[in-house]
Amino acid sequence: MRFAYADPPYLGCAVRLYGDHPEAAVYDTVEGHRALVERLCDEFDGWALSMTSGNLHDLLPLCPKASRVMAWVKPFASFKPNVPVAYAWEPVIVRGGRKRDKQQDTVRDWCAANITMQKGLPGAKPAEFCNWIFSVLNVHPGDELVDLFPGSGNVGAAWESWQRQRRMFA
Ligand SMILES: C[S@@+](CC[C@H](N)C(=O)[O-])C[C@H]1O[C@@H](n2cnc3c(N)ncnc32)[C@H](O)[C@@H]1O
Repeated sequence: MRFAYADPPYLGCAVRLYGDHPEAAVYDTVEGHRALVERLCDEFDGWALSMTSGNLHDLLPLCPKASRVMAWVKPFASFKPNVPVAYAWEPVIVRGGRKRDKQQDTVRDWCAANITMQKGLPGAKPAEFCNWIFSVLNVHPGDELVDLFPGSGNVGAAWESWQRQRRMFA
């Protein structure tokens, strides 16, 4: 099966945070995100899409009704002096995935994991978050997982390690 994780620049933050990418401005438009959601629906059996909570109003209506809104909560997140209520969780919209069999554990629709302290790329995802996405989508070793916005490469590295471990204990 074919899965995707999409971690685009968040609407309204694209040029500010990722202006070194020549086409970052696309993701400061709702139309850019609409095209991404259409691609996810057309090309993949299951996908997960990250965003910031302030984007839900604009982006959730672009997603199929059967999508689910899940949460990445961040026990440790960056507190900014001019933001009195911190942004300490992020929505993840999930669609499709492999059907679970009765032997498989139930997976929560939220994950608690600290942000990475990685310098250089804002938004690099921690391995615990990636593993949770793999479980939610119920990917199996040998499936194709396309990381559409690789950035630091953390998601790809977590995927390789996750497959290795699953194969070892299969
Ligand atoms: C939120 S970051 C991805 C972080 C990644 N998931 C990680 O764990 O490191 C978004 C990435 O998309 C890239 N990007 C910006 N505009 C883009 C565009 N139009 N097409 C593809 N990638 C783009 C940015 O340079 C950045 O690396």
